Amino acid sequence: MIAEKMKNMVANSSAIRAMFEEGNRLAEIYGAENVFDFSLGNPNVPAPEAVKKAILEILVEEDPVALHGYTNSNCGYADVREAIASSLNERFGTKFEGKNIVMTVGAAGGLNVILKSLIDPGDEVIAFAPYFGEYRSYTNNYDGVLVEISPNTVDFQPKLNEFEQKITPKTKAVIVNTPNNPTGVVYSENTIKKLAAIMEAKQREYGTDIFLISDEPYRELVYDGAKVPYLTKYYDNTIVGYSYSKSLSLPGERIGYLVIPDEVTDSEEVLSAANVATRILGFVNAPTLQQKIVAKCLNEKTDISFYDRNREALYQGLKDCGFECIKPEGAFYLFVKSPVADEKEFCAAAKKYNLLIVPGSSFACPGYVRLAYCVSYETIVNSLPKFRELAKEYF
Ligand SMILES: Cc1ncc(COP(=O)(O)O)c(C=O)c1O
Repeated sequence: MIAEKMKNMVANSSAIRAMFEEGNRLAEIYGAENVFDFSLGNPNVPAPEAVKKAILEILVEEDPVALHGYTNSNCGYADVREAIASSLNERFGTKFEGKNIVMTVGAAGGLNVILKSLIDPGDEVIAFAPYFGEYRSYTNNYDGVLVEISPNTVDFQPKLNEFEQKITPKTKAVIVNTPNNPTGVVYSENTIKKLAAIMEAKQREYGTDIFLISDEPYRELVYDGAKVPYLTKYYDNTIVGYSYSKSLSLPGERIGYLVIPDEVTDSEEVLSAANVATRILGFVNAPTLQQKIVAKCLNEKTDISFYDRNREALYQGLKDCGFECIKPEGAFYLFVKSPVADEKEFCAAAKKYNLLIVPGSSFACPGYVRLAYCVSYETIVNSLPKFRELAKEYF
């Protein structure tokens, strides 16, 4: 018999996964080219050529015993951590050292490591809706309590008044994700400054530490020259969680890192905790070959123009059908207002046209749906007549 806690998790298991499986089922019946699956954030752009080159070079250059062995520190290879710190310093004018970097098993692994390091049972973790639904599970893993800030459906910037009211002496962490999944919105510098000021004031008021966790797997995926502020510059107690899943199209390889700057309260202790958490969560260390690969590809990124073309085509196509959506500035998601209050009903109607889209309630934002446009351009173009038929049911 499985654990009680897992029973709930299984019962509420991701609607997105279920949709993915439904896509496979429909593809078998109708043929893959007639199913328009916008359900998963799995990149459709191949990893840059430099990744393949790096793999081949590493296999020749490195001693195979060391390359495939455990790393000395659970935080990862020293040279890789140094290289990442230097690259961040060059790009963002920060002053990190290798010791500030903890290599992780993707952003998901990094979030679990840092929450394990910080959260005592009953501690509160704040997230701004709409948010990546796994935050709830990750917080629950450590018996934390996820506190939700309701969505601002005008521009999807965080609702700061509500945020200020919901911070309590038990608030231990605040997770932000910009560029955002599921909206594609980038939080403005003005928003970040205000958010930081609120958190500073609350730390002083309660005499506590409130950690800002910046979950940023989409940092490199921005359009029209949008700027994504580097959050450690605005608030000392900031920890960054990064991933190469989307920036290098390597989601299955499970590689990313945490940045724990010296400015974080008890930084050395937090770093030691992250080291131990990496070990005792069973990761032991981030995959060694992948660590070496990303260190050789620090100036590489996925082909943004591919996603940008999809973004323009899908956004314009849906608007022309009469749907209401905000133009994403980053990531590869489009958040569309459901034409009926119950967006699950809308998702079911879309399925009749073999259009697979995800209900906003999976992101704590009912009344909306998410479309992941990391699909082929043909999928976008061929789906538009189906969206037009769907729209006729409503407008
Ligand atoms: C907002 C957000 N955070 C974290 C993750 C997990 O990413 P990773 O593959 O790096 O674990 C995802 C994946 O889609 C995501 O969208």
